[in-house]
Amino acid sequence: MEIFYMEEWFDKAIIYQVYPKSFKDSNGDGIGDIRGIIEKVAYIKSLGVNTIWVNPMYVSPQVDNGYDVSNYFAIDESMGTMEDFEELVKVVHDHGMKIIMDFVLNHTSDQHPWFQDAKNNPHSLYRNYYLWSKGKNGSEPNNWGSFFGGSVWSRVHKNDSEYYFHLFNKHMPDLNWKNPEVQQSVTDIAKFWVAKGIDGFRLDAFIHISKADFNQDYISHEKHPLAEPYYANRSEVQSYLRYFTSELRKEKPDIYILGEASSADINLALDYSNPQSNLCDQVITFRLFADKLKNPIVNLPSEFQPVTLDVQLFKKQMAEWQANMEGICYPTLYWSNHDTARLISRYGDSDYPINSAKALATVLYLQRGVPIIYFGEELGMQNAYLDRFEQFEDQNVDDFANIALKNGISKNKILNMLNSTHKMSARNVMHWSKKDNFGFSNHDPWIGGKSTDVNVDEEDSQSDSVLNYYRELLKIKQSNLYSIGKETIDNCEDPIFSFSRSYNNYEAKVIVNLSCDSQQYQLDNEMKNGKRILSEGQLQIKNGNIQLGPWSSIIIESKEK
Ligand code: NOJ
Repeated sequence: MEIFYMEEWFDKAIIYQVYPKSFKDSNGDGIGDIRGIIEKVAYIKSLGVNTIWVNPMYVSPQVDNGYDVSNYFAIDESMGTMEDFEELVKVVHDHGMKIIMDFVLNHTSDQHPWFQDAKNNPHSLYRNYYLWSKGKNGSEPNNWGSFFGGSVWSRVHKNDSEYYFHLFNKHMPDLNWKNPEVQQSVTDIAKFWVAKGIDGFRLDAFIHISKADFNQDYISHEKHPLAEPYYANRSEVQSYLRYFTSELRKEKPDIYILGEASSADINLALDYSNPQSNLCDQVITFRLFADKLKNPIVNLPSEFQPVTLDVQLFKKQMAEWQANMEGICYPTLYWSNHDTARLISRYGDSDYPINSAKALATVLYLQRGVPIIYFGEELGMQNAYLDRFEQFEDQNVDDFANIALKNGISKNKILNMLNSTHKMSARNVMHWSKKDNFGFSNHDPWIGGKSTDVNVDEEDSQSDSVLNYYRELLKIKQSNLYSIGKETIDNCEDPIFSFSRSYNNYEAKVIVNLSCDSQQYQLDNEMKNGKRILSEGQLQIKNGNIQLGPWSSIIIESKEK
């Protein structure tokens, strides 16, 4: 069946993710804020992006850096005021860009008035806004595990007979989306922000808004296993969400809904982002990544062991995703965000940090789909080095460190592993200049740690910097050929990753060496006489035979057919 697809502005979005706490501090308290972002809108525009995604800025006790919201209708004091936010929206629009907000709809903070009212009063009007269940045999209702470690169940008071459900931190109780009042209240909150002029939402953890019957354990040898079939991607997610999205589209037909669907495979991603489903426009999934442990250590959980990119698997996965989404919707293309290690710390080559930064950007962002660039990535910024386990604020880290120490691994080695893999090290502040605190603030930043010495000021003036390469690359990305054009991934030898793009009469070939060894690539006749659009690293071309040096790349466009 031919699916009719209407072109939308977000098909060609190029998104820059701002983690507000770490981006720019304007008032000298060590915490990034809205006025700091306003100062830097022109810089963001200079990258060639056209959309900004800001992580949550609502009032929050900051147990999970803003993903625990206690008042959805106001801006957290540490970030500024509602007037600042309104000005930000205006400045972004004046620069010809769009702005999307993070929207937290699976849970609230336990300090939210709904939970405060619900928690002590079984007759509260808000009791049914959350999920409660009686304990079983003097213990939790079931064995399901929380993403942040331990059980999904906690009690308000030690002796309560009922527990409340929290998929993340115990201070973030999950909302009961079965309750139509919850659906209505959450939709009303979103409408409030749409009326402020924002262009869309990144929906946090939406795949978890439906839960199975609590009366069942998840079979596992672990005490609190992740029980995803019971709380992820259940079919009701789609009906609950459809109410929300269709109400918003009535207010703003071109609203952009970018769903965070971490565990969605291709079929689910299509279900969520097929325009006919009237759910999301695109989704962010973690399934595109293809990690390979660098030096696997047995007896140690893989979660914080350093990885490299498994090129073969990555190619296979990208090819499947691209082929399945062709003509239906667009994949999002991202290497990192506030929940993963920074790109160069994760997949980069420590001997070639600059070349690998450029090659990895080229191989992903020129593919069909919507790039999402995590702030600082455009500089080749790496994870900061945190030197105490507590700084990671993560129960899973404590568990990992205990097992590693028991296995005789030194504290230094454990810290090295954590710092190259953990999200907290990736939340380090933006490097603006050589000044104290990287020009982020004149106060010690909220998050410490040593970081690599790259910064905007210096890279701006170096023609061969990562920053200026991103600018060139994103200029190329803006054309139809590289945004919405067709894509075919070649079946060539690893570690070369090459693909073709075509749009109307134009055709392009992108060839990237994802390794530190030299590689050969033979161009076909049509491309032999093509035009070199951008290239990077050591390259030699003779009669269509390309010798690609470490982490080098080339983009060639054929003449009009
Ligand atoms: C996903 C967010 O990206 C992450 O940072 C947060 O901790 C969880 N959702 C819970 O809101």
